[in-house]
Amino acid sequence: MSPVRNKARAGQHDFVVVASRLPVDRDEGPDGEASWRPSPGGLVTALEPVMREAGGVWIGWSGDAESAPGAFEANGLDLVAVGLSAEQVRDYYEGFCNATLWPLYHDVIAPPQFERRWWEAYVAVNRSFAAAAAAEAAPGATIWVHDYQLQLVPRMLREQRADVRIGFFNHIPFPCCEIFAQLPWRRQVIEGLLGADLLGFQSRADATNFLRACRRAAGLPTKGHAIRVRDTDGVREVQAAAFPISIDSAALEAIARRDETRKRASDIRLALGQPDVLLLGIDRLDYTKGILHRLNAYGELLDEGRLGPQAVLVQVASPSRERVEAYRALRDEVERTVSRINGEHAEVGSPPVHYLHQSYAREEMAALYLAADVMLVTPLRDGMNLVAKEYVACRYDESGALVLSEFTGAADELTSAFGVNPHDIDGLKDAIVRATTIGPAEARRRMRSMRRQVRGHDVASWAASFLDMLRQTPG
Ligand code: F6P
Repeated sequence: MSPVRNKARAGQHDFVVVASRLPVDRDEGPDGEASWRPSPGGLVTALEPVMREAGGVWIGWSGDAESAPGAFEANGLDLVAVGLSAEQVRDYYEGFCNATLWPLYHDVIAPPQFERRWWEAYVAVNRSFAAAAAAEAAPGATIWVHDYQLQLVPRMLREQRADVRIGFFNHIPFPCCEIFAQLPWRRQVIEGLLGADLLGFQSRADATNFLRACRRAAGLPTKGHAIRVRDTDGVREVQAAAFPISIDSAALEAIARRDETRKRASDIRLALGQPDVLLLGIDRLDYTKGILHRLNAYGELLDEGRLGPQAVLVQVASPSRERVEAYRALRDEVERTVSRINGEHAEVGSPPVHYLHQSYAREEMAALYLAADVMLVTPLRDGMNLVAKEYVACRYDESGALVLSEFTGAADELTSAFGVNPHDIDGLKDAIVRATTIGPAEARRRMRSMRRQVRGHDVASWAASFLDMLRQTPG
């Protein structure tokens, strides 16, 4: 960690990323010395390669309460940590971000809570991020703000720095305007976002929902992708369009092709007793991911003997937002369901569900993707779902099958997956059975078409298309 170097560059960055999280996690050695390692997660996976290529500075939160704010360098990246107090972690992060906006934007799968104190914390934290970005940006810089945690930053930034170009990308769904209208601070959120020059969404449906919300919740005129906004200095047009995010597919495929990854994949199958069918789920432990629906469908298939005697499900559920009540309740229910299925169907030494409440390195994930016959991606709502794309990227021999919820952004692109409505348990069961029994020719045809899509639209082209359009948008 080197606080000095970056400080000298404050105000000189032509490219600034502003995201809720820093792309690194802090480790503390026994002597109190801090070190940083790249952190897992969709946003980081998506943006880090872009960041390295473009140069620039990344502004984010370390994930710890009361951690020191300030500039430093880690893994060759210039970083600026925004500090959050324990109270802000509770009210802004656990409260407004993850107990208000998250369930609201995911079609109220869980009931959103509206607390005025949480909103005040959200405003204050957004102000800290905007101030940090304003201080780092060179004259005329491009600033790219990310995700629902920071929707007020674009307007706050514009008020301080009329010279910069501002993009915003929403990584999660944007709900239909009847649901968005529940938010007591809907007008402020729309106005916050409209401080940007370009707003990116995961799908056309999300962008359309936003345009409708501008008309209905804020009374603003729209035409095509453009929203007319009246600022103190005149009338501007803000563009809102779809930019489906992706992964660094070539890098992941290269990991999957390594001898040691392939060896690890066959060791995994061996350790599982060489199952006839290996099903895989990899998710953050989040109620949007449809883990319970998947487990229930699998449990019923075992009850009915439709998967043959030797089926195994590996379910990785990485720990997430563990202090938020809905997440604790979900963990209890998932673990109860896993125990029930194993209790009813296990033989000594061979449980039908291997439940792993852990996070894994990319290498282990790639080995799991390679080992699996069928990947189950069954969210009730998901902006994109990069796991689906990661599975496809790893299947370089064009084998395997993907069962994919139609409520993910990825379903718009991966049309050769076995599409499912996860609420329809019978339909989900039929799709799982079909995915496990297709012949190699059909599997190859489907996987080849999905791989073409993922390879042709990787994270670099996602970032390039957003930044190109941002450059062309009249500032
Ligand atoms: O998909 C939205 C997102 O905020 C990602 O950016 C992140 O990887 C994930 O959810 C987990 O979020 P958190 O920062 O709350 O751990």
